[in-house]
Amino acid sequence: MLNNPSQDLSSRRLLLGVTGGIAAYKSAYLCRLFIKAGAEVQVVMTAAGTKFVAPLTFETITARPVYTEMFPERREVSPWHTELASWAELALIAPATANHIAKLACGLADDLLSTIMLTFDRARVLAPAMNHRMWANVATQENLRTVRARGFTILEPPKGDMARPGEDAGFGRMQEPEDIFHEVAHLLTTPRDLKGMRVLVTAGRTEEAWDPVRILTNRSTGRMGFALAEEAREHGADVVLVHGPTEVMPPAGVRAHAVVTAAEMSNAVRKEAPDADIILMAAAVSDYRFTDVSSEKIKKTKHSLSVPMKQTEDILANLPRVKPKQIIVGFALETENLLENALKKLHKKRLDLVVGNNPLQEGSGFGTATNEVMLISRDGSVEGLPLLSKREVAREILGAVVRLWHEKQPEIEKQKKPAPPRRRRTTSSARRKSANTKPKKTRV
Ligand code: CTP
Repeated sequence: MLNNPSQDLSSRRLLLGVTGGIAAYKSAYLCRLFIKAGAEVQVVMTAAGTKFVAPLTFETITARPVYTEMFPERREVSPWHTELASWAELALIAPATANHIAKLACGLADDLLSTIMLTFDRARVLAPAMNHRMWANVATQENLRTVRARGFTILEPPKGDMARPGEDAGFGRMQEPEDIFHEVAHLLTTPRDLKGMRVLVTAGRTEEAWDPVRILTNRSTGRMGFALAEEAREHGADVVLVHGPTEVMPPAGVRAHAVVTAAEMSNAVRKEAPDADIILMAAAVSDYRFTDVSSEKIKKTKHSLSVPMKQTEDILANLPRVKPKQIIVGFALETENLLENALKKLHKKRLDLVVGNNPLQEGSGFGTATNEVMLISRDGSVEGLPLLSKREVAREILGAVVRLWHEKQPEIEKQKKPAPPRRRRTTSSARRKSANTKPKKTRV
């Protein structure tokens, strides 16, 4: 069963910003989806936004006035941009134009929406929509990096047609209203059930040097681990992320440690693991390193080459286990016998859950936005998930982790309870007791 977020948004308060892009026509339908789910939606439009869709459209859907101006002729006395900012639980801008994203990155406040956003300190989501050349522009990408680092969630535009179907295609079109609704509903309804807990995540690849120019590494991008860190943050956890070299921005709102080698990753994990309640080991750690690292570039010769290597430490198998309540999750990357090999890793590395996947399967593994995984728990239950986005996979893993956490706590409490005082038994009652003892259940 997929861990679907609740679609009931009764009384949840949402600010919907509409800026000037053709995708604004889709925002009317998006707005209706939120209203249908029971949310209260306050729409704020920029002047350019009103050129594409009339405020009356949104007023009719929301049964509320649409705000468009910072200084309207008739206005309430209070500073209403701060009032609107403190009313909403989440601010979504859909569509978010390149111009508006640039304003957010610079902290400009030259219209009502940008002024509200400068005072808004809760969940902020952008659904960018623009021509694919504007999206690819370095300035836009830098602005996106800036706002992402400040905690904005970006609903990345998929590849597809621009304004006129068939004319021009690329990355830049706004996500479909149903997808935006789904993401926002999830953000609004994710339970803060890991509040007060520490989650340690490892992500990405490690690199082992052979000489100053050559390294041994793998194709991991860090996306799966970053999605786990983001999801744990949404559940209210205090997240520590230990990651290897990556081209992807680590998520905002987590404590990130960048490392390069397996040994560095091991040191960082050993330091953080004792305080962690949940450990999610998604990193693709190099199993070998070069025995000798040359300080000079190694020259080629006429001969073939064998280079001696040593095993690196298995960080997961050697985790310091000081907290009995800890939940430990490992990944198993297997190109054959997935279930069998993943189960072996679960037992050998003493895990609560192992996430198995096959990088050769289409849409799975390194460098893809999606993954198809199998969740195998220590009680032997196996759950195969369909092909999902890495964020959705992370959601399922966190859901399973929270369930395992709740299952483990009563077991630990039982073990902690002092044994009842021993009563002296007569020989016959002791014999009767031993005769009644049932054999312990074992699981294969
Ligand atoms: N892992 C680790 N340290 C290593 C190797 C792996 O902590 N030196 C962790 C990974 O982060 C992952 C799990 O162990 O959670 C399994 O990793 P995987 O590469 O699938 O398996 P290995 O144990 O390396 O075994 P093999 O490569 O033989 O399949």
